[in-house]
Amino acid sequence: MSSATLPSRPVPRPGVLAIEAYVPGKASAGPGTRVFKLSANENPLGASPKALEAYRSLDALELYPDGSSLKLREAIGAAYGLDPARIVCGTGSDELLMLTALAFAGPGDEVLYSQYGFLVYRIATLAAGATPVVAPETDHHSDVDALLAAVTDRTRVVFLANPNNPTGTYLPFDEIKRLQRGLPPNVLLALDAAYAEYVRRNDYESGIELVATTQNVLMLRTFSKIHGLAALRVGWAYGSAEVIDALNRIRGAFNVSAPGIAAAIAAIQDTGHTEAAVAHNEQWLPWLTHELTALGLTVTPSVTNFLLVHFPDAPGKTAKEADAFLMQRGLILRRVDSYGLPGALRLTIGTEEANRLLVAALAEFLGKTGERAGTGHGA
Ligand SMILES: Cc1ncc(COP(=O)(O)O)c(C=O)c1O
Repeated sequence: MSSATLPSRPVPRPGVLAIEAYVPGKASAGPGTRVFKLSANENPLGASPKALEAYRSLDALELYPDGSSLKLREAIGAAYGLDPARIVCGTGSDELLMLTALAFAGPGDEVLYSQYGFLVYRIATLAAGATPVVAPETDHHSDVDALLAAVTDRTRVVFLANPNNPTGTYLPFDEIKRLQRGLPPNVLLALDAAYAEYVRRNDYESGIELVATTQNVLMLRTFSKIHGLAALRVGWAYGSAEVIDALNRIRGAFNVSAPGIAAAIAAIQDTGHTEAAVAHNEQWLPWLTHELTALGLTVTPSVTNFLLVHFPDAPGKTAKEADAFLMQRGLILRRVDSYGLPGALRLTIGTEEANRLLVAALAEFLGKTGERAGTGHGA
């Protein structure tokens, strides 16, 4: 075979070098500083003590885990009334998002998501060799009309986080149904409900009902957020038998670790811990929204465990400067420039201590100390 036209070294597939690798939230703030990590939407209450116990009780590390995560799928099925055969577990929902793109889209296909959609959608699309298509949002909310208008004959997957990260906004069930009905039947609607448990709105539905009543919807969930198991990397997805079969064919043979399986089973059964996490969020989400708004910042209304906060353009008051100021005090937030939101920061609802310190530090940053800091108002 002639080598004249071949590259002289291994070259990644088209699209791979267009990927900007995902940058996780920062976790440290310099030597000697006590850190409040509000950059990755982790659970301020930590994992359930029962999940920790299950994790620690595992000592046969020489054994492979059950590759099909059967007991975990049964526990999830029991918790939500779902058929375990239509559930697939993954190394976090990140893996399942990647597998979804890989299984259903490839070169020449389009994958659609909205303007401020979770960054992994673009990474997964490009990794699959497909073309990303972005639909504009309206006021930091996904826009069903814009998404439907962007569908073409080449669209294969629509990724939609509901609620979305980093905006914290959601679409009501009626809108999700309208989106599903407007899609051609061959397009897979991947509903990423990573933050579903936090939403307390009567018009919200995570995707379970839509999966049950249609053929082209996949719902993705995670144990990283409300269950506090981010370190263990466990996610799951629920879909039609055919969609789940496709994901099972291409997933890693042992894609969930034994400690991950054990801890996730205990976590999903500990409804008391989940309720405590929801109650904590219900208390501090409105408090932080109120306090930050009172400081003159614009807060995108959130239904979940984080807030997108918009800063002024004025020198000395910008998001970048606020981030550096807070970092010096050990308060680590998330820059969202990579989402096209350089004027905003995303912050996770933290412990009471972290939330109060954050408001006080921002009051200081904005020069409003006398007016509001330490009001202790509300929660
Ligand atoms: C919207 C959304 N989906 C999925 C994930 C991935 O979660 P994990 O891979 O930890 O399950 C995240 C994590 O931040 C997220 O914000």
